[in-house]
Formats: sequence, C-alpha cells, structure tokens
Amino acid sequence: MTENRWLQMIEQNPGHSAWYIERWRSMAAAGDDLDGEARLVDAMAPRGARILDAGCGTGRVGGRLAALGHRVTGIDLDPVLIEAARAEHPNAEWIVGDLAEVDLGATERFDVIVCAGNVMTFLDPATRVDVLARIRSHLAPEGRAVIGFGSGRGYPFEEFFADAAAAGLSVSQNLATWDVQPFDAASEFLVAILSGS
Ligand SMILES: C[S@@+](CC[C@H](N)C(=O)[O-])C[C@H]1O[C@@H](n2cnc3c(N)ncnc32)[C@H](O)[C@@H]1O
Repeated sequence: MTENRWLQMIEQNPGHSAWYIERWRSMAAAGDDLDGEARLVDAMAPRGARILDAGCGTGRVGGRLAALGHRVTGIDLDPVLIEAARAEHPNAEWIVGDLAEVDLGATERFDVIVCAGNVMTFLDPATRVDVLARIRSHLAPEGRAVIGFGSGRGYPFEEFFADAAAAGLSVSQNLATWDVQPFDAASEFLVAILSGS
C-alpha cells in the first residue's frame, strides 16, 4: 500500500485524474485566473530561464511559463496528467517520474524549480527530505526553488523548514500567498523561496 496520497486517491477512484483534468479545464473555460503561481515565478526568473515544474500535474504552471518564453521541463508521477500536459502544452517537456528519485543528468540545472499546488502534502512522508534534496541537486548555482502548500494537510510548516534544512536548502523568503503577501505565524499557506545552502 503506497503512502503517496495522490496514488492513494487514484487507487480509490481510477477516474480521479480525468476528473482533475476536467476541473482545471472548466475553470479555464469560466475565465478563472489560473496563472498566479506562474506570474511569481516569471518575476523571479531571467528571460528564457530553465524552469522545472516539480509535480506539474496538467502543466498548468509550467505551460504558462513556456508560453512566456521559458524553457520548461515538468515532472509528475501521474501518466494521465502528463498526457494532458503534453497535449495542451507541446512547447515544454513533460516527464513521468517520481520526484523522490528524479535524476535529469549532471548538466540539467534549473534557474527556478517551482513546486505548486500542495504537491509536498501528497508525498509519502518518508520521501519528503529525498524530494527536497533532489530539488536542491537540480538547482543551478544561483537557482532558487519556490514551494507552496497549505496548512492543515498533514505537513506542518515547521517540519517542512526542518526537512528543507536537512536537504541542504535555506529559506531566503517566506510568503503567505503567490501574490506576495507576508507570511506570519497565523498564515494558512506558505510560499517558501529557497536556495542551496
Ligand atoms: C494537486 S496536484 C498539483 C499539480 C500542479 N502542480 C498544479 O498546481 O496544477 C498534485 C500533484 O503532485 C503530483 N505528485 C505527488 N507525489 C509526487 C511524486 N512523488 N513525484 C511526482 N509528482 C508527484 C501528483 O501526481 C499531482 O499531479
């Protein structure tokens, strides 16, 4: 039995991924703003940056960044979502893989690694430090990771900060939202900006 919460949901409901794809499609059709994460990442990145979308899902964030001219690779363990990303955003590279094991090769280093949409809270808890260490090892020397997730999802922010430190990542800034509201002890969401320490 997997401890990964996304895989558990697929096991319990094989239609979960198709439902998730449709959910984003109907929000897009309704004109909802789905680009908040991509706007922050674009502001952080040089033009034509190398960007890794870690736990990319349907490519919602990375696809927008590719449309803005960045060179994007996305990785996700759900092949149904990767298929949707390939169909909807052919201007980026989409890979099926586990963030706990990803190794894109010695020369693949990223200016920004974005991990949006509560990905950290779906991981098998035993792999959290491994995932953060893989993120760190794929950062370019001046690269930064930006990781966002909500409270009340089984991964207290203090544990995340300890895990990030154990993985060799140091926090350069904490935000409470993707539109750059300040983080404090009462914040219910964290957007952490980290670099290799
Ligand atoms: C709520 S979705 C967010 C998708 C996307 N980041 C977004 O914001 O639109 C969470 C994603 O995390 C992915 N995920 C969970 N554990 C993973 C792992 N170990 N490696 C890669 N992807 C993982 C799931 O497959 C799923 O696509």
